[in-house]
Amino acid sequence: MKLLSTLLLVLVGLFAYAKAQSCQNADIYKHDVEDYTDLLQSLIDKASATNQHALLLKPGRFGLRGKDPIVLKPGVSLQGNTDDPTIFTTLSDPKSNESATIQVPAASMGWSIQGIVFDNVNIDIQPHKNPAVAKIENNVFLNGGRGAIVSNFGMNLLIDSNVFLRDQAHAGTEFIPKYNTTNAGVVFETQENSMITNNIFGMDLRKLGDVLPHVPAELQTSLRKVQYLLTCAELELEDQQGFLASGVQLYHTNEITIKSNIMNATFPDTIRIAQDHAISVVGISNYLANTAVMIYVANHADFMQVDNTVVYNNFLYRFLDHNVDPAEPHLAGWLYEGITFYDFWTARLNNTIRPPIWNSSVPISPFAHQVVITGNRFGAAPGIDPNVISLGNLDPTQAMIDGKNCYVSPPLVPELGSKIPLLWRQTYKADAAAPFGGKIPQVFKFRESRKLIQRVPEDLRHLPVPAYWKGFTLRNNTVPMLSPESPCFQ
Ligand SMILES: *[C@@H]1O[C@H](CO)[C@@H](O)[C@H](O)[C@H]1NC(C)=O
Ligand SMILES: *[C@@H]1O[C@H](CO)[C@@H](O)[C@H](O)[C@H]1NC(C)=O
Ligand SMILES: *[C@@H]1O[C@H](CO)[C@@H](O)[C@H](O)[C@H]1NC(C)=O
Ligand SMILES: *[C@@H]1O[C@H](CO)[C@@H](O)[C@H](O)[C@H]1NC(C)=O
Ligand SMILES: *[C@@H]1O[C@H](CO)[C@@H](O)[C@H](O)[C@H]1NC(C)=O
Ligand SMILES: *[C@@H]1O[C@H](CO)[C@@H](O)[C@H](O)[C@H]1NC(C)=O
Repeated sequence: MKLLSTLLLVLVGLFAYAKAQSCQNADIYKHDVEDYTDLLQSLIDKASATNQHALLLKPGRFGLRGKDPIVLKPGVSLQGNTDDPTIFTTLSDPKSNESATIQVPAASMGWSIQGIVFDNVNIDIQPHKNPAVAKIENNVFLNGGRGAIVSNFGMNLLIDSNVFLRDQAHAGTEFIPKYNTTNAGVVFETQENSMITNNIFGMDLRKLGDVLPHVPAELQTSLRKVQYLLTCAELELEDQQGFLASGVQLYHTNEITIKSNIMNATFPDTIRIAQDHAISVVGISNYLANTAVMIYVANHADFMQVDNTVVYNNFLYRFLDHNVDPAEPHLAGWLYEGITFYDFWTARLNNTIRPPIWNSSVPISPFAHQVVITGNRFGAAPGIDPNVISLGNLDPTQAMIDGKNCYVSPPLVPELGSKIPLLWRQTYKADAAAPFGGKIPQVFKFRESRKLIQRVPEDLRHLPVPAYWKGFTLRNNTVPMLSPESPCFQ
């Protein structure tokens, strides 16, 4: 009872202060975690019954049982302590590592959960149609079951300035994870009109100090909480915290914006985990912006259409060499190129797609219309051939790709200038090789439109490049990251 707060009425609209680290009060984190499940629930119930808007939580570590969820009653928001962290820790049996859950019922409107450390505790948002925006901001999620934040049949959610960490013991185990079996940061099913911005998904904790100066102030407050956990609360966290099946996993979503997040797998490619995607989208109408990720459209789930896809203004940097190639048989591009549209033709030809998928509904050529690829820049570390744009077996007349996709480092084919070659159906030139042994795509005549920028949504045309790339050094600290604003190679 003594550690958790009394109730206070506050205005929600909280500001983040950059505070100097002090371990003065850290003793409160160093004793056995007690069970606060019933107390927290009763405080929430009381706040809801008396129309108090926010529960201001004290610093400390508060145990929550894994079985029944804590229910965030209507009208109540949760606010972690802004000086020293409020930590919710699961009390689950280590034999199962089951997460505890804060459940947000449909009747909650305009709620927020801010500034809390969730130690294998997740947030589960129940189906609803609330017009008011709900916010999950400035939290730190350690592990957290199949999703640190799970929302289905919902809308109007803002997930901003959070840090999602996951260690190897809590990595996913399913080969092809599904909604119920994934181990992701954010999982949406049939979600609409929501934003996932300025978050970190996966991090090597030894590099926290490199990244911290280059992220926005709001995200710095979340990173400082992680620092506090390590240096003051002395929580034993593994260095490698990138074992997410997906940073963001979306099923059947509409109008989701994923913008300016940092997503890093953190561990050597020789460690295999289930799926290991940054963003996995099964569905339509989502916006990925300022998100330097490898993008491919895979029709795993019998989704046949990849219509209206815009791939604009991404920076893709290749820095891994053949030491980290996957085991034979090499997929040699049909799955892994800079911008890749899954190549059903080659995959089927070589019989490497698992039968239940392509037997059921996937046609030889996936239906794709209005695919726009413009303004993307590719680079490669010295001694490595850069990537190409692989169209799989899309119908070339539906792909709109202009010469504004360019190399910023020496090009694959010098005669083409900095223009990035297009690969179609894995057809390479017979007797030619790139400077470092790579294969060179055959030239196909594709439609080129001069006004592709008009097909990029207006509000995504002039996004600033976030500074956080400065916190990264690649290939085990041997290759400095290039500026995403590097000009096309001359
Ligand atoms: C639970 O997590 C701990 C570390 O936090 C790990 O050592 C243990 O293997 C995990 N158990 C299971 C069943 O995953
Ligand atoms: C997930 O599991 C629950 C309970 O087992 C089930 O009711 C639900 O249909 C499942 N959802 C999906 C998308 O598989
Ligand atoms: C990002 O991941 C790489 C491995 O892919 C790792 O070497 C690096 O330390 C990570 N950086 C951060 C900031 O997590
Ligand atoms: C597909 O199979 C053919 C013939 O067996 C082989 O030459 C080619 O390299 C394979 N392609 C891929 C991408 O595995
Ligand atoms: C897929 O099709 C092949 C040949 O048409 C058939 O032999 C196989 O049983 C089918 N597999 C499934 C899972 O339906
Ligand atoms: C990274 O470099 C360190 C020394 O700088 C070395 O000990 C370690 O083995 C390297 N890791 C990999 C994956 O190459």
